[in-house]
Amino acid sequence: MEVKTSLLDNMIGVGDMVLLEPLTEDSFLENLKKRFDHNEIYTYIGSVVISLNPYRSLPIYTPDKVEEYRNRNFYELSPHIYALADEAYRSLRDQDKDQCILITGESGAGKTEASKLVMSYVAAVCGKGQEVNKVKEQLLQSNPVLEAFGNAKTVRNDNSSRFGKYMDIEFDFKGDPLGGVISNYLLEKSRVVKQPRGERNFHIFYQLLSGASDDTLKKLKLERDFSKYNYLSLDSATVSGLDDAANFRTVRNAMQIVGFMEDEMQSVLELVAAVLKLGNIEFKPESRCNGMDESRIKDKNDLKEMCELLGIEQSVLERAFSYRTVEAKMEKVSTTLNVAQAYYARDALAKNLYSRLFSWLVTRINESIKAQAKTRHKVMGVLDIYGFEIFEDGDNSFEQFIINYCNEKLQQIFIELTLREEQEEYIREGIEWTNIEYFNNAVICDLIENNQNGILAMLDEECLRPGTVTDETFLDKLNTICADHQHFESRLSKNSKFLNDHSLPHNCFRIQHYAGKVLYRVEGFVDKNNDLLYRDLSQAMYKANHSLIKQLFPEGNPVKVNLKRPPTAGFQFKASVGTLMSNLQTKNPNYIRCIKPNDKKASHIFNESLVCHQARYLGLMENVRVRRAGYAFRQAYEPCLERYKMLCKNTWPHWKGPARQGVEVLMTNLQVPAEEYSYGRSKIFIRNPRTLFFLEEKRKQCLEDLATLIQKIYRGWKCRSHFLLLKKSQIVVASWYRRYAQQKKYQKIKHSTTVVQSYTRGWQARKLLRELKYQKKCEEAVTTIAAFWHGTQVRREYRKFFRANAGKKIYNFTIQRIMQKYFLGLKSKLPSMSPIDKTWPARPYSFLDGVHAELRRIFHLWRCKKYRSQFTEEKKAVYEEKLEASELFKDKKALYPSSVRQPFKGDYLEISKNPKYQKLSSAVDEKILLADVVNKINRANGKGSPRLFLLTKKNVVLADQKTGQLKANVPLTDLASVSTSSQTDGFFALKLKEGSASAIKGDFLLSSDHLIEMITKLHRISSMAADREKLNIDILDEFLVQFKQDKVCVKFIQGSPKNGNSVSCKRKNNRLLEVSVPASS
Ligand SMILES: Nc1ncnc2c1ncn2[C@@H]1O[C@H](COP(=O)(O)OP(=O)(O)OP(=O)(O)O)[C@@H](O)[C@H]1O
Ligand SMILES: [Mg+2]
Repeated sequence: MEVKTSLLDNMIGVGDMVLLEPLTEDSFLENLKKRFDHNEIYTYIGSVVISLNPYRSLPIYTPDKVEEYRNRNFYELSPHIYALADEAYRSLRDQDKDQCILITGESGAGKTEASKLVMSYVAAVCGKGQEVNKVKEQLLQSNPVLEAFGNAKTVRNDNSSRFGKYMDIEFDFKGDPLGGVISNYLLEKSRVVKQPRGERNFHIFYQLLSGASDDTLKKLKLERDFSKYNYLSLDSATVSGLDDAANFRTVRNAMQIVGFMEDEMQSVLELVAAVLKLGNIEFKPESRCNGMDESRIKDKNDLKEMCELLGIEQSVLERAFSYRTVEAKMEKVSTTLNVAQAYYARDALAKNLYSRLFSWLVTRINESIKAQAKTRHKVMGVLDIYGFEIFEDGDNSFEQFIINYCNEKLQQIFIELTLREEQEEYIREGIEWTNIEYFNNAVICDLIENNQNGILAMLDEECLRPGTVTDETFLDKLNTICADHQHFESRLSKNSKFLNDHSLPHNCFRIQHYAGKVLYRVEGFVDKNNDLLYRDLSQAMYKANHSLIKQLFPEGNPVKVNLKRPPTAGFQFKASVGTLMSNLQTKNPNYIRCIKPNDKKASHIFNESLVCHQARYLGLMENVRVRRAGYAFRQAYEPCLERYKMLCKNTWPHWKGPARQGVEVLMTNLQVPAEEYSYGRSKIFIRNPRTLFFLEEKRKQCLEDLATLIQKIYRGWKCRSHFLLLKKSQIVVASWYRRYAQQKKYQKIKHSTTVVQSYTRGWQARKLLRELKYQKKCEEAVTTIAAFWHGTQVRREYRKFFRANAGKKIYNFTIQRIMQKYFLGLKSKLPSMSPIDKTWPARPYSFLDGVHAELRRIFHLWRCKKYRSQFTEEKKAVYEEKLEASELFKDKKALYPSSVRQPFKGDYLEISKNPKYQKLSSAVDEKILLADVVNKINRANGKGSPRLFLLTKKNVVLADQKTGQLKANVPLTDLASVSTSSQTDGFFALKLKEGSASAIKGDFLLSSDHLIEMITKLHRISSMAADREKLNIDILDEFLVQFKQDKVCVKFIQGSPKNGNSVSCKRKNNRLLEVSVPASS
């Protein structure tokens, strides 16, 4: 939790002098001392910060402290420079008011340190970021560079600013730094050539010689030893606590950060080295014959080296040191320089060189740090100008005069803005007010800057006046013109008051500054104001082959010779101070009054008289008084009401009436005691800071309550809006869901419809397609047919012309030729016409296989037909019988092959012609188809007895061979079957049908030499008769023969070879006859 603090907490003495009780000078100093002793170096007078130089580092500038003071009320914490910086920064950032921080105090009081602290604080609390940090760093790093070149050790301050500096830091609307602009005021350049006792030249000379590397020094033609250089004072060349070598590195580094190029840095160092070299050039007098004194350079080595450094032709510079050319209108007069003039010229050159270098540095830094954005800037100006300076031994010169004039002006602006302005405001606002007396230094400013009779105006007048002008004539002038001025004192003035004042030498005048009396020695006033550099020198410089030098002396350009006198130093300074003052007046001032606690630069020493003196001339007591007599705080009614209206129900949240009434109601309501505030015309004035704290505290509490209320309402609103959002969302979700569901349903229906539709359409389409296809096919068919028909027609017409048909034709032709050749060949090679000729010519081509075979078959059939066509009917009958015999016996009876060659004669006996068988012949009235002799086998012995065997169309007749007596006449119808063997024998049995008339005598077992013919004819005749059954021919090697009552088995066996080739039949037993047949070969 934040710890609530206040300025009043743990306060040592009083933090704000306004609260001091009683208010006397003693109590004021005592309070300062008490606080100083307790390391409280800062004390407020209202919003003004008094800062006492502690001369030691205090742990009050840490980052924690920065955080502590950040965004805090000015009076909330113990006094600190950070509180002022924070107030100024926030006012700039939040209220858009340009600010200026005016740091005043005498030399060594801590102004420069204070300005750095302010800058570092602002840098720490403002925005961050790569670009912003770079700007910050550049702004901060400009300090070491300027301090090295513009600060020097003085008796009062080891790091005394010898130039005035005003820096405008520019911010954007967010409060982020954008850049800055530095203005410098009159560098104390006399220090370059001469330093008062106990002081030294500008830091950079010592830093360069101590810190630069041997190599750099060699390049710059310098030696490390300070004593080698006339311009460097030796008695205080080293300052304790100041490490020049380390500082040199810091400066170089800072220059780099600011953005100096390496060659720029080198040029700067070359110039610094040149100044040192210049100091070593010495002159000796030389009398010329015309009696004029002339000067000569003693040792030209330094001159040579300097010229080498700057790229100047030695003779040119040498001449510039010896002559002075004055151009007036059309005339050009050259005069020689004496030794004193030569030294003057040398020093003038050195001073000019250095001061111009310094101004160039400021311009260069400005180039780097200038704001890039062209938006409107808010500005915080920090003024750190040389402090009021008095040399006690009266050795104050033109520089001190200028410095002190500047301080007078600052005091003036302080008076303007705090004391007078405040009192006038009370009167303006109609607040009851007792005027506080304070010293207004406007009169001193007038003494110095009045355009008619001001000291600066007279100095200018004197400088421009023709004739002999010396510092003395200038003093005389002052003595006449300013004699009556109450703040001007001079021994020779008409004012007799100082005639006997021995503390006031004749060559001096004294001014009663607001900070004390200062005795100025007039010596050098005219020269320094003139700030004259002989044209020969500036032209010599312009001729230098060194870019920087050329830039620094533009007036040396012979093309642009300006015969007008340049403005004097005093004039320039007055003008720049004037600009500065008007600039400061447009900004909201914040004061830091620096006080030096002792002259010894020592910590822990509080020299009361010294502090008292400063407090007096700074007008601090008056400041407190005005503050106390008046009101600590004021504010216009509108912003006041706006700020505190929440403290009263009547004014919160809106006050309808005029703002003033609102504030009145507010104050009454808050029960603030009436003496604590007053109502002005447009503002309310609050007397005591405590009242303001009270109001602020109340406001803070109220803000917390309001915050809680806002939070409460906000939370309520948030919850409600969340709820409403949820509700709305729910409706949205529901509607979306419904929509979605309906959509889905619709899509489903649509889908189904589409499916049904698609099926129907598909079906319709297919039907249509089919029809169309059919139609198309028909059309196509018609077309095709037509095409084919046409094609055929055309082909038919044109075929003969088609090459494609050539192949077929050739093929057909070839085939025809082959066939022709084949047939002709075949014709010539035909075999004989004999049906049994088996020869046939070989076929010439395998593809004729079938044809060849077929032709062979046809040929054979044709040959057979031919053969057959020669036959007579008888021969045909013979062949038919032969054919039948073949059908009956071929491959069945081994005897058959031998019968093929024997012609079937039929009638072997010619019975009709034989008288023996006349009777038989007459008995057989039918034509005899076969007549032969057979052996009738006897059952009893197996022996055969010859019989005549006659066959007619109807009967088989058996008769005795010798007698021709008919033995048996068997009608063919009684024959059941004929059995014979499969062998070569001539045995056969005529089997009679059982029950027939012929069957009484039993079957006949016969043997014949013409068995094949006999059985064939028998079979033929019986099968030709339509009314008879077909006669069965059984070819078996064992069959039964019915002899009267008995059946005898006749069995044929293969006869053994010993039996010879004859067939023998033997009775084996009563029932078996065995016929042995010789094996067929
Ligand atoms: N707040 C401080 N804390 C510690 N030391 C300080 C502080 N302020 C000043 N000093 C010391 O006092 C010395 C002189 O301070 P500074 O240079 O700021 O004086 P000045 O007022 O600028 O003098 P001049 O007018 O000569 O430039 C510093 O070098 C430093 O040692
Ligand atoms: Mg300073």
